[in-house]
Amino acid sequence: MKKFTLNVNGTSRTVETDPDKPLLWVLREDLKLCGTKFGCGEELCGACMVHLDGEARPSCKVTVESAAAKAITTIEGLSAQGEHPLQKAWREAAVPQCGYCQSGQIMSAAALLATNASPSDHDIDEALERNLCRCGTYGRIKKAIKMAAQGEGR
Ligand code: FES
Repeated sequence: MKKFTLNVNGTSRTVETDPDKPLLWVLREDLKLCGTKFGCGEELCGACMVHLDGEARPSCKVTVESAAAKAITTIEGLSAQGEHPLQKAWREAAVPQCGYCQSGQIMSAAALLATNASPSDHDIDEALERNLCRCGTYGRIKKAIKMAAQGEGR
């Protein structure tokens, strides 16, 4: 066991845990931030996507030790009240079906919009290629990202 001070959603959080514990489980179990989901555990589905220093990364295989020096943002950190432009657009476009993949989708979309204010279909496909949706909501995801980029739903 080792003590870590993590920068999560702009706040310092201290945890004492196994240095090899995946960040996903530190977020969910130690910090009770359960918006980040466990999907495959192999960095293949995107359900566990968070931002590390602003970059979208799956959190299921990143160790807490390697994440400790980075700024970590989870879906809870995008907006305390769920009022991030993407979250508003997501509601407006009624994107989710079962909902399981959606926080990961939004985190990838947020990282995209942070560097590309007007993404093309190709840009969106490329940025979200690691995010799978078994319900097939891809069309509505694309629509919501474009709505958020255009300021609709804000
Ligand atoms: Fe069900 Fe995406 S909404 S997996």
